[in-house]
Amino acid sequence: MSGSQVITVDGPAASGKGTIAAGLGRIYGLPVLDSGLLYRAVGVLLQQAGGDLGDPLAAAAIARDLRPEALDQDAFRTRAAGEAASQVAVHPEVRQVLLALQRDFAEQPGGAVLDGRDMGTVICPTAGAKLYVTARPEVRAERRWRQLTGQGEGVDLAEVLADIRVRDARDSGRAAAPMAPAPDAVLLDTSEMTIDQAADAARRIVEAARAAQLS
Ligand code: C5P
Repeated sequence: MSGSQVITVDGPAASGKGTIAAGLGRIYGLPVLDSGLLYRAVGVLLQQAGGDLGDPLAAAAIARDLRPEALDQDAFRTRAAGEAASQVAVHPEVRQVLLALQRDFAEQPGGAVLDGRDMGTVICPTAGAKLYVTARPEVRAERRWRQLTGQGEGVDLAEVLADIRVRDARDSGRAAAPMAPAPDAVLLDTSEMTIDQAADAARRIVEAARAAQLS
């Protein structure tokens, strides 16, 4: 895989990685993959089909039938969808099916930006620029709470914080492709940053990584 034009943006829920990835896509004119949506779609579609989130083969069958053009749905952006995603994401069978789709996306001529949990470690280990975006759990919970209430979901901030802690533990503790910074990723803590500051810091990290490639 030729990774020099690929940018990976990993990190926990509501760290700001999606906004940062979208911003980098705009700056560099690159297509962006929100890989969390793939897992959200598998979880939601499996539940809609009456399946069990703990059944790896049923979840992998849903993943195999996933149509990337049908991912942009409000049903995949709810609190319940995030929880379902993290339950199907523990299955190696599901991750294996989604691997090819994500690698194909990364190998587009001209490059791509991919955001998720294992983009820099498993999907694109040769990416030319890798970011690991974090923020304190309390800050992330407030951001996610604002997003969910903005979408019309009535939920307590304390519940969202509890969800985030459970999801962090499951995502970083699972055996298959756990959430972790790649050894060569640059850490970006957005706890004290505005969206513009975080976007600017991310751009500088990518510029530095690209300059280092040329030297
Ligand atoms: O990023 P987002 O919150 O949409 O991801 C939902 C869930 O999907 C995560 O909590 C994680 O369990 C799973 N996921 C993953 N690997 C990715 C992207 C998301 O395991 N690359």
